[in-house]
Amino acid sequence: MFQVRLMLRQVFFWTATFASTLHATSAESQWKWLNYNASTISPIREVITIHAPPDTDIWRPSINNDNFTAPYLYTSIETSNFQSVNVTVQANWKTLYDQGGLVITFPERQEHTYLQWIKAGVEFTDGAPYLGVVGTDRLSDWSLSPMLQDSNTGNATIEIVRDGSDAWVYVIEGTRRRSLRQVTWAFNEGNSEHMHVGIYAAKPTRESGVGHEFDTLAVTFKLFSLETKS
Ligand SMILES: *[C@@H]1O[C@H](CO)[C@@H](O)[C@H](O)[C@H]1NC(C)=O
Ligand SMILES: *[C@@H]1O[C@H](CO)[C@@H](O)[C@H](O)[C@H]1NC(C)=O
Ligand SMILES: *[C@@H]1O[C@H](CO)[C@@H](O)[C@H](O)[C@H]1NC(C)=O
Ligand SMILES: *[C@@H]1O[C@H](CO)[C@@H](O)[C@H](O)[C@H]1NC(C)=O
Repeated sequence: MFQVRLMLRQVFFWTATFASTLHATSAESQWKWLNYNASTISPIREVITIHAPPDTDIWRPSINNDNFTAPYLYTSIETSNFQSVNVTVQANWKTLYDQGGLVITFPERQEHTYLQWIKAGVEFTDGAPYLGVVGTDRLSDWSLSPMLQDSNTGNATIEIVRDGSDAWVYVIEGTRRRSLRQVTWAFNEGNSEHMHVGIYAAKPTRESGVGHEFDTLAVTFKLFSLETKS
């Protein structure tokens, strides 16, 4: 079903490409995959399922262990235009570090020799899905918060919002927005650059059991919303 939709989207994309020879498509409609072989698709008004293979992660615990191997669907926007991004993520989380959610990265910051990024979503830890946030300036800082809603169904709505030079990460539980993290370095610099915004899924741990070591983790995303200034 997903494949069929991707093919239809591809056909639409080709049609749109020919139709748009007179009108450049807006930068925000350009989406790319990293670490994933699938047709390009925009998550806006779409339901997307990423099948994350095992041995994938986004995690930098030391300078010598810099891992960005997870499937990532992203678009590039001007950093100064970023306002907020949110998504509802759902999966049958069951194995240590199974995870998925939002990622933003700052690939054009020349003054750093390392990539700065923030990931926020659900991560399976201590036998249950948790809300996990990792802020990575030089190295990764990880925090966990219990899911107060829907931990049985494994879905969560996560939001990253710009507040001055900070990025704030929230979980949306019904009508309530609960703070998970303040990242003070996010928008302190680089306002003439581009940043990447998107969704990811990762499966650091292989399934046990004969024949299951290459099982993938299916993570579904819906209601993706990216708010920009222009
Ligand atoms: C994508 O496909 C290419 C060519 O078949 C292959 O070399 C590469 O390993 C694949 N990448 C992933 C992430 O599966
Ligand atoms: C990334 O992390 C995963 C999970 O720990 C590991 O299996 C994989 O080998 C790592 N890949 C790289 C390139 O470091
Ligand atoms: C979470 O899952 C439950 C059960 O499938 C569903 O009723 C609820 O609408 C979901 N919440 C969101 C935000 O998708
Ligand atoms: C996600 O952000 C949009 C604004 O871009 C907002 O209208 C919407 O209410 C947000 N979703 C949730 C669940 O808060």
